[in-house]
This record gives sequence, C-alpha cells and structure tokens, in this order.
Amino acid sequence: MEMNRFLSSGSANQESQYESRLRPQGFSEYIGQEKVVQNIKVMVESANIRKQAMDHCLLSGPPGLGKTSLAMLIAQGLGSELHLISGPAIEKKGDLAAILTNLQPRDVLFIDEIHRMHISVEEILYSAMEDYRLDIVLGEGPSARTMQIEVAPFALVGATTKSGLLSNPLRTRFMGNLHFDYYQVEELAQIVKNNAVKLDISIDEEAETLIAKCSRGTPRIANRVLRRVRDFALVEGVETICKSQVLKSLDLMEIDDCGLDRMDRKILQVMEEYYGGGPVGIEALCATLGEERSTIEDVFEPYLLKEGFITRSPRGRELSDKGREHLQKS
Ligand SMILES: Nc1ncnc2c1ncn2[C@@H]1O[C@H](COP(=O)(O)OP(=O)(O)O)[C@@H](O)[C@H]1O
Ligand SMILES: [Mg+2]
Repeated sequence: MEMNRFLSSGSANQESQYESRLRPQGFSEYIGQEKVVQNIKVMVESANIRKQAMDHCLLSGPPGLGKTSLAMLIAQGLGSELHLISGPAIEKKGDLAAILTNLQPRDVLFIDEIHRMHISVEEILYSAMEDYRLDIVLGEGPSARTMQIEVAPFALVGATTKSGLLSNPLRTRFMGNLHFDYYQVEELAQIVKNNAVKLDISIDEEAETLIAKCSRGTPRIANRVLRRVRDFALVEGVETICKSQVLKSLDLMEIDDCGLDRMDRKILQVMEEYYGGGPVGIEALCATLGEERSTIEDVFEPYLLKEGFITRSPRGRELSDKGREHLQKS
C-alpha cells in the first residue's frame, strides 16, 4: 500500500496494527452485510469480465462496520493494487493529481472520509472519475490555459460516515452507493469466534455472545472488547475465557449491558436532565454536550435511534420510554 503520507496519523496506532491482523482475508471471511457484498461481487466480476476498471462506488455507514476491509477485498478480487488515502489529509490539488497520475490501469483508489475533502481538491476528482482525465489550469486571468493529463482507468471507492454530506457533483459520479448497517448479534458472535482463532485465544460460546451483544453492532468494538478480555484472561491466568472476564472488561470499559458506552449514556442523560426528555434540537444538544454535531449525528445517534433509545422527529430528538428506563437502571 502506498501513499501512507496521506493517511491521517491515527492516534490509535496500536489499535490499527491489531486491526490489520484481524482484517478478513477473503470474501469468505467477510461476515454479514449481504446486500453490500452481493453488489460488490457483481461489480468486481463484471469488471474482470470486461477487463476494465470497476465502476466507482461509495461505501457509507458508521465507523468500524467494515468499509476499509471491503475495499481491500475489492482490490484483491480485481487482482489490482489498492491505494489508501484519507480525504481530509490531502491539502493540495497537486498531491491528489500526483496520486491519480501514478495509478495503474484497474487500480483501486480508496478515499476514506471522502465527505471531508477540501473542495478545491475534490474538484480534481470530477473529470478524473468521469473521463479518466485531469484538467489542470495553468496561470490566471486571460492568459490561463487548461492542460489535460490522462489518468489510467481506475476505480474510486469512497468511504463516508454519511452519504448525505457529499457534494452533489461528487455523489452523482458514483455508480453505486452502498449502505452499511449495524451487525446482528449472531454475525458479531461469528466475527468474535473467527478473530479469537486468529489471536490464538480460547473463549467459550457464552462469552462470545456476550461480547457480540455489547459491541454496539460494530465489529471494531467487538475486536476492542476481545482484546481487553484477552488481557484479563492472561493476567488472571485462565485458560478459556468465560463470561466473568467479559463482564469485568466491559465494566472497565464502561460499557453497559445494552452495549452503550459513556457517551451514549451521557447523551440520554443530557436529554433528560437539561431538556426534560425532549424534543430537543440537535444543535442545542451538541452544544450542551460540548461535542461536534457530526460526531453525535454520525457516530452515536444512529445506534441510539436503531435500538429505540431515542426517536427523531421534525421537532428534534426525544428520549423514548426505553431510553428513560435505561437511565433509571444505570
Ligand atoms: N464484515 C466483517 N467481517 C469480519 N470482520 C469485520 C467485518 N467488518 C469489519 N470487521 C472487523 O472490524 C475491523 C474494522 O473494520 P474496518 O473495515 O476498518 O471498518 P471501517 O473502515 O468501516 O471503519 C476490521 O479490522 C475487522 O477485523
Ligand atoms: Mg475505515
């Protein structure tokens, strides 16, 4: 993989190392997201038959649900190279132009957080996606000229936590917009089981299911809990991980029995204590929480909505009965 310079230097470097060990190595190891996977497989196979680049596609959904992992499988399926970059990390047009002109035919360019790209940089993509061509403007004013540079036929795979945040010109240039959903408990349990094998951990079924239930429908979180549980088991010197190590780890990680973490609970709490359960507008809620709107909207709210802890209406967000009961319990 190239262009690491344009990857945002993730604070959790250790986690990313661990994550790369746990990446699905083939479609057979990629659990769940059936609709997305079906679509992708057809796009990959079609490109292989045509011996052309795959169509551009957009992967959207909350963090940790397998977008990057899928991009890797796409490149593998095409037998081509994957170039991984982070949208906001590219600051100059020239940097993206350099990346694009370095692509080989049928390569995959994966742009993470594509909705956060600088607009001037993003504009370079339009003609590259549409005509495999770069339009570079040289000079300014009346003497300005446009120079065109060819780009090898490539596939752009964009990832975003929210496809609604994409600019229109960019969105319309994607053939497929594939949405990732939170995982079912059974799917997460299978992922935990497979990853335990990869990490050479022995864990019983009850413990697997408990991790799956408390991971917010998110494989990345399941991996994180599994790692913590493994540490516990090592320290305690137990051979096979069981429920008790999982419970202790969840407690340390401040994850409750519904899988909600501290921030999730804080959101519910603020809604109740400051706004009498709502309805409260997202802006006001985020201001009180001292969090960015995009973090709340893209990362936390979708799960709380899906699990019915809160509801959303044109008047704002409201705490549901389930949300209120949960607060009383904790
Ligand atoms: N469908 C899946 N099957 C198995 N493991 C998965 C799946 N999706 C995600 N994972 C696990 O979760 C981790 C994080 O996934 P990742 O692809 O980085 O998510 P995203 O890019 O959407 O934030 C991966 O390293 C992998 O271990
Ligand atoms: Mg990712």
